[in-house]
Amino acid sequence: MKQLKLEIERVQSSFQTALMQSNSLEALEMTRVTFLGRKGEIAQLMPLLKDLSQDEKREFGPLLNVLKESSERAYFDKQTLLQNLEYEKAEESDKNFDVTAYKPGSVKGSLHLYTQATQRFEDIFISLGYTIADGPEVETEFYNFEALNIPENHPARDMQDTFFLKLPYMVLRTHTSPVQIRTMLTQKPPLAIASLGRVFRYEATDASHDFMFRQLEGLVVDKNISISQLLGTIRLFLGQFFEKDDLQVRARPGYFPFVEPGLEIDMSCPFCTKGCSTCSHTRWVEMGGAGLVHPRVLEHGGIDPKEYSGFAFGFGVTRLIMFKYRIHDIRLLHSADSEFLKQF
Ligand code: DAH
Repeated sequence: MKQLKLEIERVQSSFQTALMQSNSLEALEMTRVTFLGRKGEIAQLMPLLKDLSQDEKREFGPLLNVLKESSERAYFDKQTLLQNLEYEKAEESDKNFDVTAYKPGSVKGSLHLYTQATQRFEDIFISLGYTIADGPEVETEFYNFEALNIPENHPARDMQDTFFLKLPYMVLRTHTSPVQIRTMLTQKPPLAIASLGRVFRYEATDASHDFMFRQLEGLVVDKNISISQLLGTIRLFLGQFFEKDDLQVRARPGYFPFVEPGLEIDMSCPFCTKGCSTCSHTRWVEMGGAGLVHPRVLEHGGIDPKEYSGFAFGFGVTRLIMFKYRIHDIRLLHSADSEFLKQF
């Protein structure tokens, strides 16, 4: 009997030693199997009980139970401890994870040309004291047409050009000019806003047309606004965008229902001085429309045309980008072609 007692003590102390030396979850698992497993050292002590007398069973039964339970508890405590340590270690190495580390062969992302150009124009206009305005792409016919003095029978209203929605009186805006009205109805003059965004036209796609493109709209309303201020502003922001101090603009008479007089704006060809294929050998390229805000448009915006006047301009951002970066096909600009986009 003495022997069983010694056995119990031996198993207990070698379990404690093994437990102490188990410094990883793998080592701990080995210890568990060796001592607490189905065929482990503790399990092997159990059959010895059955050869004992009743009295001896009463003495050693509880001793064996205590050994088993206390060993299991010690094992679970150690397991929790090791799991916590491992968790802390993982957390620590996550903390040292360097997202900026160089990884060979990785592809670097870049901002899309539209994002770059939008940010550039917004910076230019903010530096001129403008605020940046925004308007919805799904627009009411009133803001897109009527309020801009575009009459019912104007060609722009044709089904050929406009995406009419199934919602009553709603269209995809065909230009950014409705932002003019929205601004006048919410801000009092003097005001100066620029707005960049997407516009939609119902037309077939080719190298220079798409059903969606981007425009830049400007509106200034104050007392005694003049065409020279308008032309000076246009020359300035085009010059800054193309990074050309000597960029020139010229105005030709043009018709837009929301301005009077209306102007077509050309700029000097950014690629030549004597004429090239881009400017069809004229040295000028057409870039946008502009003019002095029509009195009826001011009225629609709740502004008294006897007291205030204004200028407005609208340019094709898509066209400006295609010119600046010499992109010959709008479909490339609107594609997700990473080989193309990587260049910028
Ligand atoms: N909204 C016109 C278009 O899409 C462009 C335009 C012309 C805007 C003259 C203006 C403007 O603000 O004054 O073709």
